[in-house]
Amino acid sequence: MKIVKYGVIGGGAIAQRRHLPEAHDNPLSTVTAIADPVKQRVTELAEQYGAEAYTDYKKMLKEADVDAVVVAGPNKLHAPMTIEALKAGKHVLCEKPMATTRAEAKKMIAASKAARKHLMIGMNQRLMPPHVKAKQILDQGALGKVLTFETSFKHPGPDGWSVDGAKSWFFKKDAAAMGVTGDLGIHKADLMRFLLGEEITRVGGFIVTRDKKQPNGKPIPLDDNAFLTLQAASGAVGTMNISWTHYGGYEDNGTILYCENGVMRIGLDPEYGVIVNYGDGQEELHKVGEVATNEKQVASGIIDSFTDAIIHRRKPEIDGLEGYRAMNVIVTAVEAAKEGRIKKVSLA
Ligand SMILES: NC(=O)c1ccc[n+]([C@@H]2O[C@H](COP(=O)([O-])OP(=O)(O)OC[C@H]3O[C@@H](n4cnc5c(N)ncnc54)[C@H](O)[C@@H]3O)[C@@H](O)[C@H]2O)c1
Repeated sequence: MKIVKYGVIGGGAIAQRRHLPEAHDNPLSTVTAIADPVKQRVTELAEQYGAEAYTDYKKMLKEADVDAVVVAGPNKLHAPMTIEALKAGKHVLCEKPMATTRAEAKKMIAASKAARKHLMIGMNQRLMPPHVKAKQILDQGALGKVLTFETSFKHPGPDGWSVDGAKSWFFKKDAAAMGVTGDLGIHKADLMRFLLGEEITRVGGFIVTRDKKQPNGKPIPLDDNAFLTLQAASGAVGTMNISWTHYGGYEDNGTILYCENGVMRIGLDPEYGVIVNYGDGQEELHKVGEVATNEKQVASGIIDSFTDAIIHRRKPEIDGLEGYRAMNVIVTAVEAAKEGRIKKVSLA
């Protein structure tokens, strides 16, 4: 295959800000079809990208000339859309969270194997330049083992991001299943697994709804804040703070790793994406590309990575199992918070 033809399901914020421009800009890929039930939205987008518009994704899967599908609709539809697309013989890049239950995620992985088509999950945090740099530094070994960590991801909420604002699926339980946990928690569970190079094995904490309101003024039926404690297989322990009520006007997506021989700060300084302070007083300042924020979109690299995997017939960088493992940390955290205890994350 010389050029990957993409069909994008869901023409919302993530498709408009990342997937469509990134597939259009990559010389090895193109957008041939877009599906979204909102007719005006999909018609305008299709015109902009020279693609065919569909209001029914099933029709798109049947009729459109596509090799690969991006699933970027509401969380609850990820599993059925992905499985249908795989059965239709398409490679699938599915947004995070890959599914809303463990069983669905397992079915998606099985469908990918049965169809012999790629499945990649849009957990793009690990592709952001500061996180790539941090992983390289950790792997070089000078910092030694990670002892403890703090990671956070906070912004004012998806009502300021979604194309449908506060009326969107993000605030509906039957469409989203999870609140900030499924949105920002999944990203950070994946990032910590990636940086530590090992699994999170125990998790617990507070998962609460503090402030977010539905358009009718009632609290959203989903979580908007979580303070979690995690432990990795090596014994490293840390915290994850995620929030949709960070009304301070800037996005906080930072991580601090406290290691045997020093401390690494990631994504916390506007100029230096990674700062390392060694125990002997030495400081390393790394100027690397930025982490994308809701206000400032930089290419996520996810389409480039998936396109490359399809063309070179190699395993996607962030495959279904990675998606499952990150999701499982968060699903277990939700159960642990309900039960009021620390819970083991099953690797089965
Ligand atoms: N990887 C990331 O960094 C990142 C960032 C934001 C969102 N996301 C994920 O992307 C997905 C979409 O989020 P968003 O921010 O674009 O939301 P959004 O509300 O802006 O857009 C969702 C779109 O899906 C459409 N849609 C609803 N039902 C559909 C159906 N049956 N078929 C086709 N389209 C349908 C809606 O009309 C809307 O246009 C979510 O799963 C979200 O978690 C990922």
